[in-house]
Amino acid sequence: MKPDRRSFLRRATLGAAGLMAAPALKSGEPAAPGALPAYDERAPEPFWAAVRTQFPLSRDLIYFNTGGLGPASQPALAKVEETTRKLQARSEHGHGLFAEARGVVARFFGAQPEEIAFVRNASEGNSIVAAGLKLDPGDEVIFETHAHPGGSFPWLNQQTLRGITVRLFEPDPRDPAGNVARIAALMNARTRVVQVSHVTAPTGLVMPVAEIAALCHGRGVWFHVDGAQSAGMLPFTLRETGCDSYTTSGHKWLGGPLETGVLFVRRDRMNEVAAAHVGAYSGELDGLPGELRIADSAMRFEYGTRNVAAALGLAEAIRLQERIGTGRIAARIRGLADRVFAGLARLPGVEVLTPAVPELRAAMVTFRTARVPHDQLFGRLLRDHAMRTRPVTEQKLNALRVSTHLFNSPAECDALVAAVEKILRSA
Ligand SMILES: Cc1ncc(COP(=O)(O)O)c(C=O)c1O
Repeated sequence: MKPDRRSFLRRATLGAAGLMAAPALKSGEPAAPGALPAYDERAPEPFWAAVRTQFPLSRDLIYFNTGGLGPASQPALAKVEETTRKLQARSEHGHGLFAEARGVVARFFGAQPEEIAFVRNASEGNSIVAAGLKLDPGDEVIFETHAHPGGSFPWLNQQTLRGITVRLFEPDPRDPAGNVARIAALMNARTRVVQVSHVTAPTGLVMPVAEIAALCHGRGVWFHVDGAQSAGMLPFTLRETGCDSYTTSGHKWLGGPLETGVLFVRRDRMNEVAAAHVGAYSGELDGLPGELRIADSAMRFEYGTRNVAAALGLAEAIRLQERIGTGRIAARIRGLADRVFAGLARLPGVEVLTPAVPELRAAMVTFRTARVPHDQLFGRLLRDHAMRTRPVTEQKLNALRVSTHLFNSPAECDALVAAVEKILRSA
């Protein structure tokens, strides 16, 4: 890499406080995690530069793909390593330690520990709900056309296996109430389930979940939220969403390790979701040898020997977010996304697909331009500017998605807009 680009990247990535630490570091080497200074509203960048050091993400990369895969934070990785080593030293599985992780996750989401199951990822959480709800042939499930395969495949699978009918609505990018109305228009006496992505993957549209919950509950319909993109991006409690079940990935916006999904099922409706896969820990042992007494909690959806180090790593990632402040993170990353949105929107020939309506967007911006095909733009941003975005081929949008998270800076956002402008000028 040319020295001028390297020093630019260092500046863009770390900001002023990071620059002071930079000379001791080799190119790309992450800074050692420092203590978080007190937050100063008038001069917040040193605080966020210290937050950046909590992520051992190469400094040679400007990372805008948290919506695809979030880098794990240093405390999370350290906890995984420390726990794994401790347990391996005595060859113990440490299953009892799940209780601590469950408590942290439950507190974060404003749920009861008994409502939380550790699953591998959001796809698995969605699949457990789709397979577990009692559905007969011809029963209908509604979700949006922009659902991620991890959200749509579990229902399409039930269409094949159980003969249910899937009905799709196009997200309304102009009006939150339009989304509620589009769901209502598809409802009928056979409607059993509504699922939405809390934040849609292709364009980062934020669904009005509380209003959709009210609609569903008025009609006795199960409401499931695919929150793969919302935990760690938006501040909310699960009670506020009004959903019956919710699932998320720990390895995106929460900064947790891989394979740390979370499934929430409301305690008072838990028995409506049958556990399709069970094993040790899904039930009480005193019914053996002839009876399965299913656990009176979401632990019924867990089974067998698990990696508790990953769950504790997720808990550590959540603790870091709580130390920084979930409201503060949400405001920061929304501000960064607004900066990207505004910068891209004023470039001639750029079409921003993420809704312009403030209530309908958060920390992802999807855009395209007819001047440069999206795959070429993706390649040039990565190769020439060390910026990792995410191509969006879903629904043939042929666009690029930019995720802004707590380790990104205003300078990086401005650099992205400048890079796109430069590429467009040379096209
Ligand atoms: C809305 C949505 N649902 C589900 C998934 C799948 O997540 P996972 O890989 O954790 O199963 C994603 C991944 O991007 C997503 O954006």
